[in-house]
Amino acid sequence: SLSPELARAEALIREIANYPSPGILFRDITPLLGDAGALRATVDALIEPFNGLFDVVAGLEARGFLLASAAAYASGTGLMPIRKAGKLPRPAASVGYKLEYGTAEVEAHDDFAPGTRVLLIDDVLATGGTLAAAHELVERLGYVAAGTSVLFEIDGLGGRETVADASLHTVFRS
Ligand code: PRP
Repeated sequence: SLSPELARAEALIREIANYPSPGILFRDITPLLGDAGALRATVDALIEPFNGLFDVVAGLEARGFLLASAAAYASGTGLMPIRKAGKLPRPAASVGYKLEYGTAEVEAHDDFAPGTRVLLIDDVLATGGTLAAAHELVERLGYVAAGTSVLFEIDGLGGRETVADASLHTVFRS
């Protein structure tokens, strides 16, 4: 069961029906981010299972950046932005993944030493395509995937199976 502070944080996730397309229930974490106690409690909950097990926090563009940056600061580690294709000046690796319509790619630089332990953080787990690609990217860069932590897991889309990471930790789920 959730602590009172986390229960309050969960209530600050706003549900928007039929966004960005009909039939999709969008989880908007903006109200949670705007609340000091909720932000602190959720960032602490994201990193807590992985204390001491990672050297750097990787965040997924764009909403994952918001949580990963706070998580890196809170845990005294560095930050690794994982970006969508075409945003980095010198990507060291790219991994493609499928979207409902079309494809996308994630990219990163290789500024860390081989074997660096990376904690992956994102806001929402839906189909799992984004995090599975990020996981592969981390390994292709020569780093070690130390864990995966997500604020909100949407059940029923196979995301957990697609990510296929036994360490997967999600703070809230539908
Ligand atoms: C959303 C969300 C996750 C991803 C989850 O990001 O923030 O990164 O989709 O979906 P999946 O599990 O089906 O891959 P989006 O690609 O919309 O990018 P954004 O954060 O820049 O809006």
